Amino acid sequence: MSGLLLTGIGHLTTHDGDPITDAVVAIDETTITYAGSESDSPAQEGRELVDCEGRAVIPGFVDAHTHLVFAGDRSDEFARRLSGESYADIAASGGGILSTVSATRAASEEQLFDLGAARVWNMIRSGTTTLEIKSGYGLDLTTELRLLRVARRIGEELPVTVRTTFLGAHSVPVEFRSDRDGYIDLVTDEMIPAAAALADYCDVFVEQGAFSVEEARRILEAAKVKGLQGRVHAEQLSHGGGAALAAELGAASADHLDHATEEDASALADAGVTTVLVPGASYSLRSSQAPGPMLWDAGCIVALATDCNPGTSYLESMGLVISLAVVEMGLSANQALWAATRGGALSLGLPDRGLLARGQMADLAIIDAPTPTHIPYRPATNLAWATIQGGEWAHRS
Ligand code: NIG
Ligand code: FE
Repeated sequence: MSGLLLTGIGHLTTHDGDPITDAVVAIDETTITYAGSESDSPAQEGRELVDCEGRAVIPGFVDAHTHLVFAGDRSDEFARRLSGESYADIAASGGGILSTVSATRAASEEQLFDLGAARVWNMIRSGTTTLEIKSGYGLDLTTELRLLRVARRIGEELPVTVRTTFLGAHSVPVEFRSDRDGYIDLVTDEMIPAAAALADYCDVFVEQGAFSVEEARRILEAAKVKGLQGRVHAEQLSHGGGAALAAELGAASADHLDHATEEDASALADAGVTTVLVPGASYSLRSSQAPGPMLWDAGCIVALATDCNPGTSYLESMGLVISLAVVEMGLSANQALWAATRGGALSLGLPDRGLLARGQMADLAIIDAPTPTHIPYRPATNLAWATIQGGEWAHRS
């Protein structure tokens, strides 16, 4: 039997009660068998002994919203935005999502795997153990399925758990610009039935210039029939009704929510729809942050994610996301850490993650600092000294 015994933990965040100082975690195979005080620690019994030398231990990060499988380079758009052009203007002039779609369609499956896997390795090295990956840069049947296959393969070949989301309704592709309904028919009648075997969820970008609430309802209802629960890009650039739709349909999550209102918050909380906030996108776009504290106080399950994508948020570090959530959005350090771990796990329907207790999956990060408050406090330092996923070393300094 393989196992680990982590001793000398200076500060253990379990999310199953108060933090514990002088703590021990025992892992057998893929599972935690003890997480608690040193005084009641089990014996070594053949487990590999790891002295954490006073470092903090936290649940592994759960990054519940990414678009990380893509090809191409949009750093020119970042520079254009810095000199005053808006994200919407750049998209309308042929850049934006559609520019990544052209580059992604031209890439091979192997190239896309290599590009995506390199980004995921950066995430693993910074403490991430579970993540969600969306398609959405193919916008035709062949390429959307290729992106989902690549996402699944990342979860099979790298030490990370991957949940996949079909996002064919990310934008209307150029060849359907004069036939929006034709594209939506393609999404509902051909793409969703084929994607259902490769995806856990279906997402729609509800926004002016993307999809309307009515169009999104059609798509999400078709997805539900095929067993895919909804996730919704909602209220990102303007208030458009995506959050209310997510609540109406009982989606798994409503994401972004920069322009969400108190009414949206109570509808989402009542419907049990998790809220996935992505402060890196608002930061890169230099727009206002989502009302994280308001959503939290309204009773929403709040998750934090990188939104890793080439347009609005090319970042891989959940540590930086936590820092932005604390400094720019106003969550407390404890709330942000919970949202980046347990909140993400609940959002992805994985209740055995994001919490360190007996019987939970052994996914955790050893932080090279005495407390996890150092994560937001030292945003440019990767403090993940080691990442353990499913009881195995995924990364070790
Ligand atoms: O989450 N909002 C839509 N999708 C991405 C951006 C996609 C892109 O610009 O390539 C987002 O911000
Ligand atoms: Fe997104």
